[in-house]
Amino acid sequence: MNSGRGVFIAFEGGEGAGKSTQARMLADALRKRGLSVVTTREPGGTPGAEAIRDLLLSPPGNAWTAESEALLFAAARADHVAHLIRPALARGDWVICDRFVDSSRAYQGGAGAIGDSAILGLHEFGSSGMRPDLVVLLEGDEASLAARLAARDGNTSDAIGGRPASYHRAVAAAFRALAVSEPHNFARIDAIGDPHDVHAAIMKALAPLLPAGNP
Ligand code: TMP
Repeated sequence: MNSGRGVFIAFEGGEGAGKSTQARMLADALRKRGLSVVTTREPGGTPGAEAIRDLLLSPPGNAWTAESEALLFAAARADHVAHLIRPALARGDWVICDRFVDSSRAYQGGAGAIGDSAILGLHEFGSSGMRPDLVVLLEGDEASLAARLAARDGNTSDAIGGRPASYHRAVAAAFRALAVSEPHNFARIDAIGDPHDVHAAIMKALAPLLPAGNP
């Protein structure tokens, strides 16, 4: 649980899983129920963290080392948590975030071989180890996700999205392993198919977090 009065939901998954679409659909559904919702993303969400996003996704010099990359993600997250997420939760808002610390655990910790305990250590230092109330992990088979990504981005990709298929396969495996070992933190949702069906599955997973009388 977070320490505020609001509810913190993170969307996670590999490239092309439909996180942004589903985050938007969830925000709309919650607002229709009269709830106050803040949508945000990582890396980013505050001016400082958005500046770090640019550094990460378009490195100005040589590629970042794995260690510097992990530190930059943790620094962006610390700013985001302090200046946007915690204040919103303290007001009692719902916060819906497109990616959070489990992306660092899967990309840098797993695929990037930094290791989970180093990522969790950085997160403890930067953001007091803050956890979402629920992580919605969107999963799908590699071929379907790649087709969706090609339709969305064509040949353009950033410094991390453009890494080889083996890296993204390791990311997916790392997310799966986290969800299996921490089932209380994650709702695993099949992301392939009609976005409205995916949304319905997400609403079902979130039902226990909705206020009483607001199913
Ligand atoms: P996006 O495409 O979902 O906006 O995310 C930007 C890229 O950053 C994406 O390739 C995933 C990557 N990423 C990490 O490697 N570690 C992290 O902690 C986060 C938040 C994103």
